[in-house]
Amino acid sequence: MTDLQSRFHDIYAPVIAFDNETEIIEGKGSWVTAADGTRYLDFAAGIATTNLGHRPDNVLAAANAQLNKLWHAGGAFLYQPLIDAAENIVSVAPDSIERLFFMNSGAEAVEASVKVARKTTGRQGIVVFRGGFHGRTMGSVTFTTSKAKYREAYHPLLPSVFVTPYPHPFGWGMTQQEANAHALRELNFMFRHEITPGEIAAFLIEPMQGEGGYYPGSFEFLSALRSIADEHGILMIMDEVQSGFGRTGDWFTSQVYDIQPDILVMGKAIANGLPLSAVGSSIELFDKFPPNSHGSTFGGNPVSCAAANAVVDGIRDVLPGVAERSDHSFARWNEAKDRYRTIGDVRGLGLMIGIDLVTEGNTPDPDAFGPIARYAFESGMFILSCGPSGNVIRFIPPLNVSMEDLNRGIDILIDSIAKYEK
Ligand SMILES: Cc1ncc(COP(=O)(O)O)c(C=O)c1O
Repeated sequence: MTDLQSRFHDIYAPVIAFDNETEIIEGKGSWVTAADGTRYLDFAAGIATTNLGHRPDNVLAAANAQLNKLWHAGGAFLYQPLIDAAENIVSVAPDSIERLFFMNSGAEAVEASVKVARKTTGRQGIVVFRGGFHGRTMGSVTFTTSKAKYREAYHPLLPSVFVTPYPHPFGWGMTQQEANAHALRELNFMFRHEITPGEIAAFLIEPMQGEGGYYPGSFEFLSALRSIADEHGILMIMDEVQSGFGRTGDWFTSQVYDIQPDILVMGKAIANGLPLSAVGSSIELFDKFPPNSHGSTFGGNPVSCAAANAVVDGIRDVLPGVAERSDHSFARWNEAKDRYRTIGDVRGLGLMIGIDLVTEGNTPDPDAFGPIARYAFESGMFILSCGPSGNVIRFIPPLNVSMEDLNRGIDILIDSIAKYEK
């Protein structure tokens, strides 16, 4: 154990567990540098946050310039970065998103989105989809069902939150169509047995499920939900905290599927690692959410907003290159799937790719990720897992990763899987 690790264990509350206790001292592009000088390819991208890589030049310059002028206004005064960032983000968001407000973290924005839905509809019911991850605060953990452990010992959670299946075709051994039909049947059972649709304020859904195992929502399922929502006056809140800002090949996954959210929740990559999140909606809906229905001291921090404004410009430049990187990654991973029995499924959108590690009969292999991640780290690459059994590799390189580094990362991971199989 290094000196820093032992100080960490002495002083820091153990509840906050780090995936890797290696000390890093610098990040640039797709790489981080450890205290001993070793460089690692960061294909976890700060959990899908540094979509432009570490410290991209234009974001660094914008944040630095703002830091030297004003770094806090606390909801008391107006400042230009707030408006610049809001305008720039709305300009790339789905057409239904005409205004937004800023918060600090994903969980906070999710909770705020539910407040918008409850207050503007006057209804209390919130429907969430099993496997969804929406944060860890007391309200947001009620909406989170990716792992029961996250909710353990925190009951009672918020009332009037109902859980219904999200299609998991691979996990259920079904085709996408069968899984969609099953999930929709269950939703209809819920309407019949638990809550009438007229009492539901919102569907809260990740159009591309993240932490729950990297499952794309599918056009058929999401458009069916959109129709049900329209029929019953239910708002559709899309949580794109992880899947937004270019990660799935367009600005937002709702644009990949061309399905409009009523409320869009943004976070993570919005400021490429500086703390910021946002809730977007229509002028009409926000006009029903009066001043002081919500607030925050730090939300929309000037430095984070300056960074976010630059992030939008940066992603505008790199977005056209995501398809090529995505196609290349899928081609290589599908080839690897045919060769390695541990790879049961490769799925995702854009550069949000899940590699499902299994044993016989496509059973999730909870023991595979640990050794594979360790072998990869020994070869200079950092990855994270997801899924309730922790058996899905999140393959989420920065969107502007070079083709050379992309291939290097895939080579390292495939070698690590081969080593695990030996
Ligand atoms: C889809 C989604 N929503 C919400 C959150 C919570 O964000 P935060 O950790 O910033 O509170 C996350 C975090 O991983 C997420 O992936």
